[in-house]
Amino acid sequence: MTFYGGDELAKVYDDALAEGFGLVASNVAEPNVLVGLMEGAARVDSDLLLQLSSGACSFAGNGDPVAGLQAMGTYAELVADQYDVGVFLNMDHQTDLEFVRTQVGLDRRFPSSIMIDASHEPFEENVATTREVVEMVAEAETDILVEAELGRIKGVEDEIVADEAFYTDPEEAVEFVDRTGCDLLAISVGTQHGVAKGKDLELRPDIARDVHEALEDHGLSIPLVLHGSSGILPEQLQELLQYGICKVNKDTHYQYEYTRTAFDYFREHEADLLPPEGVADDRDDFFNESAWAPNKDHFDPRV
Ligand code: 13P
Ligand code: G3H
Ligand code: NA
Ligand code: ZN
Repeated sequence: MTFYGGDELAKVYDDALAEGFGLVASNVAEPNVLVGLMEGAARVDSDLLLQLSSGACSFAGNGDPVAGLQAMGTYAELVADQYDVGVFLNMDHQTDLEFVRTQVGLDRRFPSSIMIDASHEPFEENVATTREVVEMVAEAETDILVEAELGRIKGVEDEIVADEAFYTDPEEAVEFVDRTGCDLLAISVGTQHGVAKGKDLELRPDIARDVHEALEDHGLSIPLVLHGSSGILPEQLQELLQYGICKVNKDTHYQYEYTRTAFDYFREHEADLLPPEGVADDRDDFFNESAWAPNKDHFDPRV
């Protein structure tokens, strides 16, 4: 059995925090990417942290997020047994407390952790919502870890301007962790979600350092989380890992790699894949890469 819950995941984060490494959290929405990730993790003998957003659950469940979570969780659980690596499942960017309640109440080995994202709310509301999930998990007597977010990461929360206000404030982080009792904290240090990052990201590792040190000074040290990590260079990541970042969220990277692999396969086998007589030939649209990689000139999601 290699599919683990929150207690084991907490041990991994303890080591990550003490030793300065990070666990990549990889978004999946369907089995192809999931199996590819397990294959990759087994090859390099690494633990694997999968994550599902609400949208991914809805996609996998054909509109029913609970069905999608059960389906993907069960799939991951059964396939994980073929590999000699530890597999964990995090619920990414949750905003619906009723769906969260269902996740907490599942009598399954998953999820290992849940991210409640009320970062778009004012500070007090963010504290209250996060606190509610921490209490929900405690009352259910599960070992599920709770991740929260303070500060705003651009992309999903699109209309936010990239000024100083959008980064996480270290003193607020101390108050937030103290009052909510969350197990992990996602902070904003200038990354953005998705492919539209551009090359003008202003990364602020100093903010990760200040948040990490402020938490440490108050005896509240917990693993920090970097969202929007596709396209972040290894040397940029290396620096952030020194400052308490223990979880590195990647989504776009995998979807890009999967789409590119399919694209290359179809291009290579184009002659064998000619549509039968009388069926419309829409290959011109399909082979137009700009249709599915619109920002390729500004950002390299393969990193
Ligand atoms: P990217 O899609 O930019 O890698 O962000 C992933 C993420 O933060 C998932 O929570
Ligand atoms: O499971 C069967 C597939 O969905 C069929 O796909 O219509 O491209 O052959 P196809
Ligand atoms: Na957010
Ligand atoms: Zn994210």
